[in-house]
Amino acid sequence: MDLLKLLNEMTVDEKLAQMTQLVPQIITDKGEGVITGPMRNFGITKKETSSVGTLLGASGAKQIKDLQDFHLSEDPHKIPLLFMADVIHGYRTLYPVPLGLGASFDVDLAEKCCAMAAKEASVGGIHVTFAPMIDLVRDARWGRCMETTGEDPYLNSKMSAAMVKGFQGDFSKDKIAACVKHFAAYGACDGGRDYDAVEMGDHTLREYYLPAYKAAVDAGVELVMTSFNTLNGIPSSANKYLVDDILRKEWGFDGIVISDFNAFYEMISHGICEDEKDCAKKALDATSDIEMMSTCFVKYGKELLEEGAITEKQLDDAVLRILRLKEKLGLFDNPYRAADEEAEKKIHLCAEHRELAREAAEKSAVLLKNDGVLPFDKNVKKVAIIGPVADHGMIGGWYCCGKSSEAISVIAGVKNAVPNAEIVFARGCSAHPNEKAEEVADLIDEAISLAKDADAVILCLGEEIDMSGEAHSRARISVSDSQTELIKRVCEVNKKTAVVFYCGRPLALEKIDDVSPATVIFWHPGTEGGNALANLLFGNVNFQAKLPMTFPREGQSPYYYNHLRTGRPNTNSGYCLGYSDTPYKPVYPFGYGLSYTSFDISAPVLSRTEMATDESITVTVNVKNVGNCSGIETVQLYIQDVTASVARPVKELKGYQKVCLAPGESATVSFDITIEELKFHTFCGKYDAEKGKFKVFVGNHSDIETFETFELK
Ligand code: BGC
Repeated sequence: MDLLKLLNEMTVDEKLAQMTQLVPQIITDKGEGVITGPMRNFGITKKETSSVGTLLGASGAKQIKDLQDFHLSEDPHKIPLLFMADVIHGYRTLYPVPLGLGASFDVDLAEKCCAMAAKEASVGGIHVTFAPMIDLVRDARWGRCMETTGEDPYLNSKMSAAMVKGFQGDFSKDKIAACVKHFAAYGACDGGRDYDAVEMGDHTLREYYLPAYKAAVDAGVELVMTSFNTLNGIPSSANKYLVDDILRKEWGFDGIVISDFNAFYEMISHGICEDEKDCAKKALDATSDIEMMSTCFVKYGKELLEEGAITEKQLDDAVLRILRLKEKLGLFDNPYRAADEEAEKKIHLCAEHRELAREAAEKSAVLLKNDGVLPFDKNVKKVAIIGPVADHGMIGGWYCCGKSSEAISVIAGVKNAVPNAEIVFARGCSAHPNEKAEEVADLIDEAISLAKDADAVILCLGEEIDMSGEAHSRARISVSDSQTELIKRVCEVNKKTAVVFYCGRPLALEKIDDVSPATVIFWHPGTEGGNALANLLFGNVNFQAKLPMTFPREGQSPYYYNHLRTGRPNTNSGYCLGYSDTPYKPVYPFGYGLSYTSFDISAPVLSRTEMATDESITVTVNVKNVGNCSGIETVQLYIQDVTASVARPVKELKGYQKVCLAPGESATVSFDITIEELKFHTFCGKYDAEKGKFKVFVGNHSDIETFETFELK
């Protein structure tokens, strides 16, 4: 396809429509399609909608083929539509929410999951996913924690690249284009309140928040979505510094920049644009290409051009980028691409995909505490399953085409794992965060009577899937009063209890930590959650995941392990870092997670104590499985730069490795430290390493205190 020729044949109006993304109901007048934000009457004409470039909110081979046919019959140049959707943790077969995938610390698994999602989505007619969402988050109150892989720039960057690879791969028909979001620093919103402002210096932005987006760009991501928030007063949609200077010029990104839902229009509400015309001008000047769910470009682009406020080259650059992606996806040759109703039947929810979803859920579940009650004996006679989230599939907030009814509940999973046991169920309470124990006294009593004589009790608590995600920030992240009371009362009558939390964010667990004999964080696990949980609790598989975010106490958020050193570190005495009403440390640190076995990790041994900038140091530890079963440990390397031109974090994750060991078995794990691991954004604005001392910590969580030192000469 000669794209330049096509471009030259397009009118200005057609170019502006090409740069617009709407939902199907606007172009067809039929009410079909998912809407994920506010709707208004856009007041655009039939002529404009017939040349629209892309749609969101449609899914399924049949619907997408019909829409494509309808569009091609109207579009004067027969330019196929690009269909985009939020395929965030699966399309029909759902795997754990990204925060859960982050907990797996397993990039191969993340890549495989995204490849599975791409395969299901592509036969369902989707061309582009609005993923990976890789916003670094330090505040557990933010609703969208669940969509990211957590608080660490190193882990997020690895996950980001793996996810892009999984979705896009070789761009064959069972792959889709990826769109990294939300550029930039959306996770740093004030107070953890979704959509709120972000104020952040360049140092923090570049050092912590940008690396994971950059990793996606380096991995070849095709699209970048700008975020809703202002960054230092400028909404990302109009942020030339972010989009043009950093993304395009510094990082060399030549793909498509798309807005978030209605975000151009919302610049009026931000108070930086007077009207829609002003929005169009500012967004275009920031080199945006596609406007999602507002119509500032189509309505005012031509006027701006006639007035000389924008140039036709700006439009041409954007349209060419869109046409290039359509061509790369093969849409000019086959506008349906992989959409295929028969293939949907075969591929969606197939046994292989369910198996991967189960494996992913098993590898994301974090065991925080175990007083020896787990694993439960497989010969149990009676299992009491209690809790508001035990009797339905917990598929996660961006469930796309997945259905709770197709997912395995805990009750169903336990029936599969211990088919001969009697299983009893009581709801016990609801998942409502403000519910008081006295409001559900009867439900708690009923639960106690079932739990009393059970051989195993599984308490399934935490958050329903709609309690985290977009627009679901929480001011308080504590376990509710009713759930706390239920845990206390059940554990009083039966110690053979596992407390399992479903959540899309860290919860404040201090009130229940001493009471619970065994605590599991299961996130929102997806289609195979119930089977995965039963396998873990009855010991068919072992726990191996680690927390991708700190689990703080109520009131500590934002709290993150890699915070800067201060003049008065915490010493648990007066006039030092901390609180006067709450302990300084969180309930569980980043990187923490147990297994049914335990591991000894020796002190790190360094191959040398001095290193020149062109040399490397090998750090070696011996890891031994000192328990009674096989297990996988994630050995983590942290570094602290002791003295630098700017204050540096107490420690930073710089590498990790998983080792699988049989009981009694040992392995040597080594990491190479080169100058790359020591670089940071220095006071002079360079990305470089500075000479001096460094501390090296190796352990199985971020709160490790022992270290060795070396010097960069
Ligand atoms: C969200 C995006 C999402 C978009 C399209 C917005 O409200 O912020 O993450 O991709 O809707 O559904």
